[in-house]
Amino acid sequence: MKPLFLFLLSFSFFGLFATQKSGEYAHVTQETLHQERTTKNFSETRKDFPLLTSKPNLVYFDNAASTQKPKEVIDTITKIYEHSYANIGRGTYQLSLEAGKAYETAREKTAHFINATPEEIIFVSGATEGINFIASTWGEKTIQEGDEIVLSVLEHNANLLPWLSLAQKKKATLKFIPVNSDGTIDLSNLDSIITSRAKLLAITQSSNAIGTHPHLEKIIAKAHQVGALVLVDGAQSVPYGKVDIKELDVDFFVFSGHKMLAPTGIGVLYIKKGLQHYIPPYQLGGGMCVLNDDDSFTYKHSVSKFEAGTPPFVQAIGMGAAIDYLNTIDFDLMQKHLATFCKKTIEGLEKLPGVTIYGPKEELKKHGHLVSFSIEGLSSEDISDYLDQYGIAVRTGSHCAHKIACVLGYDSTVRVSFYLYNTLDEVDYFLGVIRKLIEEHKTSNLQSLFNLTEKNKRSCKQLN
Ligand SMILES: Cc1ncc(COP(=O)(O)O)c(C=O)c1O
Repeated sequence: MKPLFLFLLSFSFFGLFATQKSGEYAHVTQETLHQERTTKNFSETRKDFPLLTSKPNLVYFDNAASTQKPKEVIDTITKIYEHSYANIGRGTYQLSLEAGKAYETAREKTAHFINATPEEIIFVSGATEGINFIASTWGEKTIQEGDEIVLSVLEHNANLLPWLSLAQKKKATLKFIPVNSDGTIDLSNLDSIITSRAKLLAITQSSNAIGTHPHLEKIIAKAHQVGALVLVDGAQSVPYGKVDIKELDVDFFVFSGHKMLAPTGIGVLYIKKGLQHYIPPYQLGGGMCVLNDDDSFTYKHSVSKFEAGTPPFVQAIGMGAAIDYLNTIDFDLMQKHLATFCKKTIEGLEKLPGVTIYGPKEELKKHGHLVSFSIEGLSSEDISDYLDQYGIAVRTGSHCAHKIACVLGYDSTVRVSFYLYNTLDEVDYFLGVIRKLIEEHKTSNLQSLFNLTEKNKRSCKQLN
């Protein structure tokens, strides 16, 4: 495959690749960031990311899966392990106390970032653990036979399977808010979906598969009106726009650090302060209770109740560093910046034969960060393999969001997802490679390059 790769690279069309190699990234727009926050232009942010500078040819378009990490985050973690590492919470010596203080500072930064209070921030491993936490604690305690749990068809499996399992166990019912054919959320039957039987609304703020942003205000208000609690999955929203927990008016909220420049293994579960006394701990262990002489235990009246054992404090401090970095970014401008990429991608793909784009295109052009598409006659995996040979990393599959795949009738899509260090040049380059792929597929036999396979359509019955 290597000679072929080199041959393809030599095409003059790919002069841009050479430009990228020299590290000269053309500016996307003339926009400069808000002076008080940063003087950086977005296209200059790439140099803050060691992996991206060490791989100047890499076009990283898999940010919805996980983002790259800035040097500040990497340095913060390295420094802890090299200079200030000790377990927290139990030690009374200086090193331990300082590490504990840094952990609590990370909690404060995280709380501030989403306009919550530190007492409402529980560190977990990620959005998945946060949702499982609530299903196994509040859900186990609350949900009974005949109750209803309302989701949308957009949900990631992380916000579907815990509720499906709980509903099966408790003989409760899952109900789904549908989407229109363009992937926008359909609110026309909200009154019949969210009824007085609903105990919980668990919904995403932004779809990882097709990019829809459900209009949550109306849905949350309806859920609260019937007495249901509200959990919002912010895994795809917190990294891309300012989230105000108070304004959103939710009871539970989750997101993952690794999708917003932070290390893996750290995420956030927000539980509204007034609810915490009702919720049992997720795990039992060190640091979360007092064991009485009669073997009964008294839980601590703080987030410690929910953080048994050694917490992922190094990762949390790394998350604090990621938040420091993000605090230098004007989120309104970033949203516009990413939407420009979506617009260009959508308009470019629309011109090509055999391309289907999934999701609310007009919405994405205004405030999207990802685009999902397929090409007739080519499997997503083949498209991804081809792009990979040109240094473009994308994600394929149903993106762990099977319901929406079934509803819109695709088996797998190619998803390109952007973040602050991407450039319009990269989008142009990507479109050029896709154009070339389609042309080659039409005129020659790509069968010889790839072992193209016609995939069977996935059966969606079990999730319908
Ligand atoms: C919308 C959404 N929810 C939940 C998750 C799960 O996040 P994690 O794997 O970090 O727990 C993801 C990950 O892709 C996601 O996109």
